[in-house]
Amino acid sequence: MDKLIIEGGNPLHGEIRVSGAKNAALPILLACILPEGPVNLSRVPRLRDIHTTLKLLDILGCETSFEGNEVKSTVCNIQTEAPYDLVKTMRASVLCLGPLLALKGEAKVALPGGCAIGARPVDLHLTAFEKMGATFELDSGYIYGHCKKLKGANIHFDFPTVGGTENVLMAASIAEGETIIENAAREPEVVDLAEFLIACGARITGHGTSIIRVEGVSSLKGCDYTVMPDRIEAGTYMVAAALTDGELEILDCPFQELDAVVYKLREMGVWINEDNDRVIVRRQGELTGVDITTQPFPGFPTDMQAQLMTLMCLANGAGTIEEKIFENRFMHVQELVRMGANIKLKGRTAMIRGVDKLTGAPVMASDLRASASLVVAALAAEGETEVQRIYHLDRGYEQLEKKFSAVGAKIRREKE
Ligand code: EPU
Repeated sequence: MDKLIIEGGNPLHGEIRVSGAKNAALPILLACILPEGPVNLSRVPRLRDIHTTLKLLDILGCETSFEGNEVKSTVCNIQTEAPYDLVKTMRASVLCLGPLLALKGEAKVALPGGCAIGARPVDLHLTAFEKMGATFELDSGYIYGHCKKLKGANIHFDFPTVGGTENVLMAASIAEGETIIENAAREPEVVDLAEFLIACGARITGHGTSIIRVEGVSSLKGCDYTVMPDRIEAGTYMVAAALTDGELEILDCPFQELDAVVYKLREMGVWINEDNDRVIVRRQGELTGVDITTQPFPGFPTDMQAQLMTLMCLANGAGTIEEKIFENRFMHVQELVRMGANIKLKGRTAMIRGVDKLTGAPVMASDLRASASLVVAALAAEGETEVQRIYHLDRGYEQLEKKFSAVGAKIRREKE
């Protein structure tokens, strides 16, 4: 297992480029089961979760190659079982359920189970597919799904689930008739998946709003597609620039998709400006605490909650963060406290009182975004921080330590 050793206190300066979005690339890769012709994807980030997905695609009967940031995939002979060994390491594997049901009328997918940030059930996915004519049995940790021919339906999600919307979107593309998804997730990654499916010949309208209409077609064709840049990676760089009192020029920044984050950062006293092909970020005077509630898009993203909390640790005055998406996403709190932060937790709300400085300490990463928050905390802290268990970070940030080193961070990877 690797760890990162970070010597804090060096302001970050220079250009930093954002990679392809993990959470867009994952569903798009699984949607590659659907088209009959070859798919060529660009800007696919080289991450652990992407490699896991490619393994799953191989098992499901696609021939794939991954060179640089390009993935090529061609369907050969589709199989319908997603084994536990892969699903347990990556919950997004459950997104093959929709494409398999729509294509083959059956799927056997391991139940993802709990994960570090909460229980995260898939009940909303299953209820939607039942509406489309599928039946499910749960046996020995597997979901067995069957249907004759998946049929379009009116689906109303109780909660705008990102994965549920994506799963239904893929299945509905080749289901019989029209599907209407109400209270659909509006996340940019859902929009990117819809655009990919449209490039393959799907008939989808309304993506990016809470009502999506999908007119099923008999088959999809291959296409060339470029994955959107990662808004959470870009947001993490904004926080790093402000925390270290440096100035970063972020390239390939999906600025329009970061409204809620930019709004809160500006409220805290961070200067952010879009200038042609880059977004420039630096601190403007003292930082102040703010109140944040995580929400589905276009609200403040849960995936930026931990990083903003770190920034608030060094702000003037107090601020609060209420986590409304996941019930257990505060595992970074205890670690930040070990670095000198003043944070009190009450249920789903954290109260953060700014301190003068954070100090380096050995800390342990518990999930992807918690890891990112500890790394940016370490960049600003006095002394040396050892961030252990960074395999979480490798799931979601492409070459993070190389990118941070190139803009002046003292950061190195070592074997634990
Ligand atoms: N939920 C249910 N039942 C369901 C589906 C979801 O109760 O059938 C609950 C979940 O337990 C959770 C909430 O609804 O409490 C949100 O779940 P959602 O389905 O919207 O999220 P997801 O698809 O599991 C994706 C991202 C997450 C991101 C969330 C919210 C991927 C692969 N994952 O998860 O990303 O936090 O949307 O935006 O796209 C990350 O990148 O670190 C990450 C966790």
